[in-house]
Amino acid sequence: MYVPRLTELPAWQQLLQHAARLGSVHLCDLFDQDPGRGDRMVIDELGLYVDYAKHRVTAETLQLLVELAEQSRLRLQIDAMFAGEKINLTENRAVLHTALRAPRSARIYVDGVDVVPEVHAVLDKMSVFAERVRQGEWLGFTGRRIRNIVNIGIGGSDLGPVMAYEALRYYSERSLCFRFVSNVDGTDFAEAVVDLEPAETLFVVASKTFTTLETMTNAHSARRWLLAALGGDERAVANHFVAVSTHATAVAQFGIDTANMFGFWDWVGGRYSMDSAIGLSTMIAIGPAHFRAMLAGFHAMDEHFRTAPFERNMPVILALLAVWYNNFLGAESIAVLPYDQYLKRFPAYLQQLTMESNGKSITLDGEPVNYPSGPIYWGEPGTNGQHSFYQLLHQGTRLVPCDFIGFCRSLNPAGSHHDLLMSNIFAQGEALAFGKTTDAVRAEGTPDWLAPHRTFEGNRPSTTILADQLTPEILGKLVALYEHSVFVQGVIWQVNSFDQWGVELGKVLARQITDELSTAEPALHHDSSTNALIRRYRSRRSAAANPA
Ligand code: F6P
Repeated sequence: MYVPRLTELPAWQQLLQHAARLGSVHLCDLFDQDPGRGDRMVIDELGLYVDYAKHRVTAETLQLLVELAEQSRLRLQIDAMFAGEKINLTENRAVLHTALRAPRSARIYVDGVDVVPEVHAVLDKMSVFAERVRQGEWLGFTGRRIRNIVNIGIGGSDLGPVMAYEALRYYSERSLCFRFVSNVDGTDFAEAVVDLEPAETLFVVASKTFTTLETMTNAHSARRWLLAALGGDERAVANHFVAVSTHATAVAQFGIDTANMFGFWDWVGGRYSMDSAIGLSTMIAIGPAHFRAMLAGFHAMDEHFRTAPFERNMPVILALLAVWYNNFLGAESIAVLPYDQYLKRFPAYLQQLTMESNGKSITLDGEPVNYPSGPIYWGEPGTNGQHSFYQLLHQGTRLVPCDFIGFCRSLNPAGSHHDLLMSNIFAQGEALAFGKTTDAVRAEGTPDWLAPHRTFEGNRPSTTILADQLTPEILGKLVALYEHSVFVQGVIWQVNSFDQWGVELGKVLARQITDELSTAEPALHHDSSTNALIRRYRSRRSAAANPA
């Protein structure tokens, strides 16, 4: 399907002119001219209230952005993704995370095979296993019940599980202890198991490829740790290790019985896999019923994305606003600021989802892009961030659109905490948008010399997403909202959001340097800086004993 280069699309050119015309129109003016925009520029569906009124956009901006989406053939791309077409061209794969949450009655074909029965067979197998662990029926090698679950994985095989566990901790089985090990730094594993009883510990080795250096290194350390404590009997591995992977041979080679393997498919990208078997630790924590409620949330957002007109489509609107700031107003990053402590790992999760997906500079046609693509996503939960980096958001020189996420009811209501929390989320959006003029500052009696320092120029945009309460279903909707927003952005920028070749070079060089660190007198052929660093490390690594 021929699509002209993005910058040649008529809507792109019109948006350039429109941005120049709209220029520095202030949000104060936009609200003055259109006082009702706060009630109108909202999408209130699926239990999510998405307020995008505090954005530097008019009805014309939104219409042009929607035209940009249409001229980018977004509708066709959405249909192609949902239909299982191999839109991940550089890996020749379908992109079907939406099949992971499709109901049993759905029919979705990849290479002529309906994948829905396989998806549900794995979910059923996960449910049986999760219940056995939760009920204390799955026993360790010495007959003790499992009390600790350690997920070993990295990237999508870690960030989704740990984010979901933290987000849904309220719903988790509190008699079980969950840990997550990802880093190849031995400290991660050491600290994760330091207080665990091996006889009561189950390792979930989660790796799509089952070859990832970090995960395999940690999995081997886990096996040594376990066997050292349980007398070295290799048979213990069967009770204490299960695998989540697409690679049965590698799982068997590690020594895990493939009967204890939970599979998924090459059409599930790592960063889109938290609702596949990669979510096994999540299911053990919250139970199969809550897990399925989360899947239902994902599916509801999938259906909204697939069917809603672009003007009323939450992922599309979020994506188009990101494109607007990224490509027409010069913003380089987007801050995601959840006002809920349970969502503390949500920004970290979104970093992989967004930046591994759209951190690309070559189009699907193999041409370098001539416009900025994926912005930097970052963030921290509120109100902590307010006492850290919000200074820059309010008075710095950079434009940083913000996504605020909050809930009307706390899962832990206590005194005035929640009203205080929510008054802050509302106050931040208001302060960012409308600021405080120098005149207003002076009128408060501030001396002239100090007034500029205390002035807030405002005009800093934000979206606020409100839901009633953080539930598994709402979490599914939120994650799917961002998944699809990332997809829409990738379609507009004409990049493949589903490969990640950019992580390869570092892996190859690390393998080479690992050899150079373990051979006696290696000839080093790196640049002078890297050679010197390697020599320094080699000469110093055994120089001093570790402190006690
Ligand atoms: O190195 C990047 C990456 O491939 C991610 O895309 C992926 O989520 C992560 O590594 C882990 O991969 P795996 O699940 O195969 O161990």
